Amino acid sequence: MALVSMRQLLDEAAKGGYGIGAFNVNNMEQIQSIMEAARETKSPVIVQASRGARAYSQDRFLYHLMMAATELYPEIPTVLHLDHGNSPETCKSAIEMGFTSVMMDGSLMPDGKTPSSFEYNVQVTKEVVEMAHARGVTVEAEIGCLGGIEDGHGMGGDGLDHLTDPAQAEEFVKLTGCDALAIAIGTSHGAYKFSRKPDGEVLKMDVLIEIHKRLPETHLVMHGSSSVPQELQDIINKYGGKLKPTFGVPVEEIQLGIRNGVRKVNVDTDNRLAITGAIRKVFMEAPEKFDPRDYMKPAREAMKKVVMERMVQFGQAGHAGDYEPIPLEQMAERYKTMAVA
Ligand code: G3H
Ligand code: 13P
Ligand code: ZN
Repeated sequence: MALVSMRQLLDEAAKGGYGIGAFNVNNMEQIQSIMEAARETKSPVIVQASRGARAYSQDRFLYHLMMAATELYPEIPTVLHLDHGNSPETCKSAIEMGFTSVMMDGSLMPDGKTPSSFEYNVQVTKEVVEMAHARGVTVEAEIGCLGGIEDGHGMGGDGLDHLTDPAQAEEFVKLTGCDALAIAIGTSHGAYKFSRKPDGEVLKMDVLIEIHKRLPETHLVMHGSSSVPQELQDIINKYGGKLKPTFGVPVEEIQLGIRNGVRKVNVDTDNRLAITGAIRKVFMEAPEKFDPRDYMKPAREAMKKVVMERMVQFGQAGHAGDYEPIPLEQMAERYKTMAVA
């Protein structure tokens, strides 16, 4: 099966009332973990690469690894998505390389740090929507800014600094015609999201519910959705790591989001923790080992376990065979009939 547009997966998820995890990748083992988890749970998947991942894996390696994934797992509807594109140029290069979905994160300026104006965000997002939809490629946009910084991306600070304004979100979707909308409800990227189990003071599920009421047809995206499980923190710290106490987004809050329009759930940190814990364990317990396969295999298994759990919890498990993929050319034809303000 060729790579599929993200719009199709999200439309199907909306019909079925479930969410889809979008998992970040940087290398072969992470792609293998996700594809194996998808096969075992019969899940459609979104594989996403940040700018940092594209630089790390040199783009072409990433692309061909994804081609291998479609060849080896033909029964799995698979999307290759650009995570946090910082400019129309970055989105263009991803589309030219074969990504079937891009995120134009115009909530920040191209430096990936400075919060932008509403007008700037509308302008760059519209530009990307025109370019992407002409090729049948999906566009995710963002309004409001998350907290935290990953690999130089993000405004830093606390997740409450730039929450999404529901009225602005409504206007933004009308003006841009984006397929999916990432919103800021108090989460941050990375491991340090909350200093206690989050309640409504810091994780604004009420804002999400209000946005869904105003935009019932829009696919909402939750970024910064790792749950940062205590068990994964404990493994790292047991084997010599130094993570400070921290809390992520509880799975039950994500499930509440899914009941209120969330169709894409971004998870990276939980997989990073699982991989690191597994590698640290081998290094501590068997310091005589030096074959990378001795620690990469358990790392791959540990990530697969987390991804499988999320696929079941988000509800995408069992849905891989529900539909035939729509070719991108057909998606492009479909977009021609959709009007944007
Ligand atoms: O948005 C953040 C994702 O976790 C990707 O992180 O930019 O360090 O690759 P990265
Ligand atoms: P986490 O850091 O919570 O895994 O979030 C990842 C993310 O939002 C990628 O865009
Ligand atoms: Zn993100």
